[in-house]
Amino acid sequence: MTSSESHSGERIEDRPLPPRPDGVPVAGNTVQFVRDPFAFYDGLAEYGDVVSYSVAGEEFCTLLHPDHVEQVLVTDEASFGKSEFVQDAGDFLGNGLLLSEGDHWRRQRTRMQPAFYRERIASYAADMADFAAERAASWDDGETVSVLPGMKELTLAILASSLFDLDVRGRSSAIRDATRAINDKADAGSVDAFLPDWVPTPTNRRFRRAVDDFDDVIADLIAQSRGADEAGDDFLSILLTATDDDGETMSESDLRDELATFLFAGHETTSLALTYAWVCLSENPDAREKLHAELADVLGGDRPTMADLADLEYTELVVKETLRRYPPAYVVFREAREDVEIGGYRVPEGTTLTLPQFEIHNDERWFDDPEAFRPARWTEEMAESLPDYAYFPFGGGPRHCIGMRFAYAELQLVLATMAQRVTLDRVDDGPLDRRMGTTMEPEGDVEMVVTER
Ligand code: HEM
Repeated sequence: MTSSESHSGERIEDRPLPPRPDGVPVAGNTVQFVRDPFAFYDGLAEYGDVVSYSVAGEEFCTLLHPDHVEQVLVTDEASFGKSEFVQDAGDFLGNGLLLSEGDHWRRQRTRMQPAFYRERIASYAADMADFAAERAASWDDGETVSVLPGMKELTLAILASSLFDLDVRGRSSAIRDATRAINDKADAGSVDAFLPDWVPTPTNRRFRRAVDDFDDVIADLIAQSRGADEAGDDFLSILLTATDDDGETMSESDLRDELATFLFAGHETTSLALTYAWVCLSENPDAREKLHAELADVLGGDRPTMADLADLEYTELVVKETLRRYPPAYVVFREAREDVEIGGYRVPEGTTLTLPQFEIHNDERWFDDPEAFRPARWTEEMAESLPDYAYFPFGGGPRHCIGMRFAYAELQLVLATMAQRVTLDRVDDGPLDRRMGTTMEPEGDVEMVVTER
């Protein structure tokens, strides 16, 4: 297929543009989007599975069909790149693995892959369960806790210890402040998301300060690791000692960008998944009872190990269903590098494509009663009949999440460890409000009451 030919063999330039909701000249759909991005996204489906609109002068096209997701992430992935829109917003991640492209990305991904092999993940399992047990023990019976900060601290400690062999517990507030400022800055319901960093809004000032503090922590971590007597075989040591074809080690700035990327991408998403899992379990006592029964049966009160995970089948489905219902990475962004045909339409070069997991995972065309939390829906038969890419919490194709196996092991081990010791019941019982930042976060505190088991 040449770049001017569509899948059907017709010329792409003869294809119609995708339908678009009414907007106003110049501002496009900015006001509708910023006022309520959830309602805006929900409203797109009435225009079809390929819908275009403009926000803040940027041309977007949202894809709502799994086949289109597969086309963008896998089949025709070479026609799409990481979107400039996201690269600008994620400036503080620099040229780290999440945002880099081309040969640099390929070289870095190859270098880092060994840290995520199955046997390496197994070596992190004890830390995952130990930190989880410590967290559960830190809560008192009857105490009301704010779950998200607790889960962020936990996943950050796990990440730093397993990947970097460092104890960040004293430094976690700078990292947490930075991730909060980053999410505030990216909040789709705020105009700040569309303003350049140098505009001195309060959010931008907080963002700049937080990124500076974050950089100080990273510099310290690098110094701490370089000062170690011998190079370890942890991820940070791989980064410090890896050489390219010319025998060069990684530059300071590449190292900084990779650390920023992994500190951010590696703990924020998992802390959200755990928070959502606790909320779903609290709201679904039957599922919680089933989980408790499995844990009693398989573990009998012991701390779970990597070897137990294969037997913790229901625990795995709880994780899987949580990532369906509330995907923490809620949209994958790409940019069309050339004119492309998608679903019979011409999507012009330069358009930012959004592939929204939070819509597709909750679409009744693919999932019965999508708003219900039902881990048991994931039967073999159901999984077989599900179209590929109706479920893609970790993305897909060459740029799929490098931390997927790490995340799955962590989520299962933390849930299995903590749910044996405590139950958490949500204080509010209304729907869970969320906001679209860099990740999809609950709006405000998620308060839960701890009961020791
Ligand atoms: C529930 C947890 C997680 C979710 C939902 C998640 C989701 C994702 C998604 C959707 C992507 C693809 C982005 C795109 O195509 O533009 C991605 C990429 C990535 N993730 Fe994760 N992730 C999780 C956990 C982790 C962990 C634990 C780590 C590190 C230890 C990590 C590190 C990364 C990195 C570095 C990339 C970029 C990979 C590349 O482009 O080569 N993630 N993640």
